Amino acid sequence: MPTLTTDLDLACARLKAGELLALPTETVYGLAADARNEAAVAKVFALKGRPSSNPLIVHLAHASQTGDWAAEVPAAAQRLMDAFWPGPLTLVLPARGDVSRAVTAGQNSVALRVPAHPLARQLLERFGSGLVAPSANRYMSISPTSPAHVMQQFADSDLLILDGGPCAVGLESTIVGLLPGEPARLLREGMLSASQIEAVLGEPLARGEAGELRVPGQHHRHYAPGTPTQRFQQVPTMALQDPRCAWLWCGAAQPSVGPALDLGADPERYAQGLYAALYELDNLGLDRLLIQTPPPGEAWAAVHDRLARASRPLD
Ligand code: TXA
Ligand code: MG
Repeated sequence: MPTLTTDLDLACARLKAGELLALPTETVYGLAADARNEAAVAKVFALKGRPSSNPLIVHLAHASQTGDWAAEVPAAAQRLMDAFWPGPLTLVLPARGDVSRAVTAGQNSVALRVPAHPLARQLLERFGSGLVAPSANRYMSISPTSPAHVMQQFADSDLLILDGGPCAVGLESTIVGLLPGEPARLLREGMLSASQIEAVLGEPLARGEAGELRVPGQHHRHYAPGTPTQRFQQVPTMALQDPRCAWLWCGAAQPSVGPALDLGADPERYAQGLYAALYELDNLGLDRLLIQTPPPGEAWAAVHDRLARASRPLD
């Protein structure tokens, strides 16, 4: 059974000893380990069941530590760090030679982020170096946004969970790649939007993978509940009578016989509650989960991205 704690000394001592720790961040809980300890990093891959080809994000207390990991910090990266760190933004930069290729999955770039959650910041400050922290879920399942979700994911382990309550943002960080000679590139949507980033950069972001910038592990089926899950725009009214069908609405829920949650029509509140709602409805073990597709628009871009990975379209 995992154990919950709020004891930062204990949490830090575990990490120094090469053990794992579930770490609250403002986005999702991470499965943290000392990024300079290859044996500890190997434990992260083993416990998650994650392929070693899928690189990890290094979490830092301060932007001033970037130079310990990145071989180069382009001016554009510095501007983004100044504007958005601490916060839900990950930057992929050229990696220094001494960064373990277990962390970068053999790539010559490293992903860096300064999280904003107060407990994460205090722990990183105390730890004094970088922590790898992929989302604290088993490979291909839903990211955890509360200690209870982490417990469920790793029920048969003795993982220590630093209890920082529910995550405020609720979706994984936005990832931007900044490699020399390449335009800045959006590699993963997050609640920090492309236009917020473009406003600071003063130029549009390129999209998708190109050249050396690959994002292994962004699987099409990712974040998927065990229950067969579909998303709809037109309400499939027949299913409203089905007691074995669960519903997730984004405002204007219609009465259904099966259980339903309504996350409302505000994108930030929806994002904050999405994974918790998926855990809750998936845990009912019903036959079907139906998700109302939120409206178009940039404010919903990260939500659309995650729903596309969690469900199949019904219409
Ligand atoms: O919000 C977050 O980013 C959370 C919290 C815990 O910080 N972490 C997280 O980690 O989502 P993870 O491992 O689940 O997702 C990291 C993503 C993966 O898609 C990986 O391929 C990409 O970051 N990534 C890591 N290093 C990379 C690199 N050098 N180049 C390109 N993509 C990289
Ligand atoms: Mg993940």
